[in-house]
Amino acid sequence: MPNNIPSKPQNIDILVATTSGNTEYLADQLAAQLEAAGFTTAMHYEPDYHQLTEDVNENSIWLCCVASHGAGDYADSMLDFAEQLHRDQPDLKTLRYAVIAVGDSCYDTFCAAGRDCDEKLAKAGAKRLLDRLEIDMSIDDPDKKASTWGRSFTNLMCIKEE
Ligand SMILES: Cc1cc2nc3c(=O)[nH]c(=O)nc-3n(C[C@H](O)[C@H](O)[C@H](O)COP(=O)(O)O)c2cc1C
Repeated sequence: MPNNIPSKPQNIDILVATTSGNTEYLADQLAAQLEAAGFTTAMHYEPDYHQLTEDVNENSIWLCCVASHGAGDYADSMLDFAEQLHRDQPDLKTLRYAVIAVGDSCYDTFCAAGRDCDEKLAKAGAKRLLDRLEIDMSIDDPDKKASTWGRSFTNLMCIKEE
């Protein structure tokens, strides 16, 4: 058991952009890691833009796990969300967030969707909790990289709780 469990359960909404399932798998692993560290998680496999943005309050934390497809587009499960995020330019000043971008460096548009998501949320006024993680499926060990990043994330959140 980790010895730095958050003093009160804090929920993390995990938004998943996936087409072929790799990012869903990583997001599920991260959810398990966060729950083991004392957080609660809510998975959004096809994130509902209106519900998520309308529910944002000072306790909201989004962890966006975003694969790039096409020519740097968002993966299928988050295409609608991304379209609305671009169109609406919402005010998300009370939101805190972090992004894990999944891609493959053989594409010129490496991790473009995750980078875009990070940029758009920052532009909407949301506070980035931790630097974006970029996972290169052609060279990285995705499980290892995601769990190392997950550890930094949980440590950071526990420190902020104290
Ligand atoms: C048709 C296709 C297009 C892709 N386009 C990009 C891209 O533009 N940029 C990038 O970084 N990776 C790209 N990738 C790599 C995917 O991001 C990578 O395979 C990732 O693991 C897919 O995640 P998913 O299984 O969650 O959908 C592409 C993969 C495919 C099959």
